[in-house]
Amino acid sequence: MNRRAALIAPATAVVATVGGGLWLSCQGRETGKAAAASGRLQLGQPPAPHAVFVSLDRRDGGRKARRNDLKPVLESLDELQVGGLEARIGLGASLLGQHGTTLRHLRSMPAHAGDVLDPHQCHGDVLLQIAGPTAGAVRTAARQVLSRAHGWRVRWRIEGAQAAGETVDGRALARNPFHFTEGFGNPDSQHAANERALVRPEQGQPKWAVGGTYQVVRIIRMATELWDADPVETQEQIIGRRRDGRWLDGTPAGERANFASDPKGKLTPLDSHVRLAAPNRRTPPPILRRSYSYVRDDGDRGMIFSCFQRDLAEGFEAVQRRLEGEAMAKYLLTTGGGYFFVPPPGDAWIERALHP
Ligand code: HEM
Repeated sequence: MNRRAALIAPATAVVATVGGGLWLSCQGRETGKAAAASGRLQLGQPPAPHAVFVSLDRRDGGRKARRNDLKPVLESLDELQVGGLEARIGLGASLLGQHGTTLRHLRSMPAHAGDVLDPHQCHGDVLLQIAGPTAGAVRTAARQVLSRAHGWRVRWRIEGAQAAGETVDGRALARNPFHFTEGFGNPDSQHAANERALVRPEQGQPKWAVGGTYQVVRIIRMATELWDADPVETQEQIIGRRRDGRWLDGTPAGERANFASDPKGKLTPLDSHVRLAAPNRRTPPPILRRSYSYVRDDGDRGMIFSCFQRDLAEGFEAVQRRLEGEAMAKYLLTTGGGYFFVPPPGDAWIERALHP
């Protein structure tokens, strides 16, 4: 059995099962309440160590979702925020489409090259994301929200955690299941995060969407045993950084590598992850990554890759296209996820997005 077959066989037998969604904030971070009060999504805050994502569909798919269907869900999210949690909802294309509302680029997530998408863990009318200090806290919070989400059924759910990381130079770092540190390529301030992620007035999007953000979630199964069988040096060539983040040409983690002086990829291979993801070191891809690791039954483990951007085409989709054929591809299999739009704080968007 080759590597890809090893990933595909068990993955297709597994259907998602785990927690629900919003975000919490912990001590030392701005609370969700404060974020809402500031009138802006606070995406630059260090992520809480545990998160749960829950995708919901309307029970009666033939009927348009109304304000009253969403109200109890939004109220529960607000309550979590008041309790110190940061809670978010993402709107799926299927929900907005029913109301004739269109957002540029928002559509059902297509299968990208190499994906084997399981329809039972993709898409959804809405995505809730709840994050917090412990798995128990986020599970309880998700239960609270779901107990009031009459008229909605869970389409899929998954829980994730981040191996304890630190914040260096304004960037939250975490270890992924391949033992590499992630987060260096992220923006180093709230302002820079907003610049990459929040929809701007001049983007030609509906007014209600300004200040919101597009969220992409990808459930990526990782062949950790196969990966671990390779020498660390090989792994570092595949990623294009050392495990601790240092560049392969010796540049310190927090500084800019000089790919231009290595045109043939002798030091940093041309098909390495970072070289393809961000070939131009002066213009980083306009996305903010906030991923979690997951572990499920049957040895299914990997990453709940999540990123925010103000433009899906220039953000996730441009990077994903460049990553086709990367050396890491044979260790990965994307089985689920979706595209969503996280509206700006407040509820002014509801009337405008969900036409009667
Ligand atoms: C399981 C899958 C993945 C793994 C294990 C992984 C791992 C990594 C690692 C170790 C880094 C270097 C440290 C950092 O800057 O954070 C990195 C950077 C990055 N990754 Fe991934 N990644 C994965 C999937 C993706 C996907 C799906 C995308 C987007 C389509 C993506 C986009 C990026 C970007 C934009 C960077 C920053 C590059 C830079 O500015 O230097 N990654 N990733």
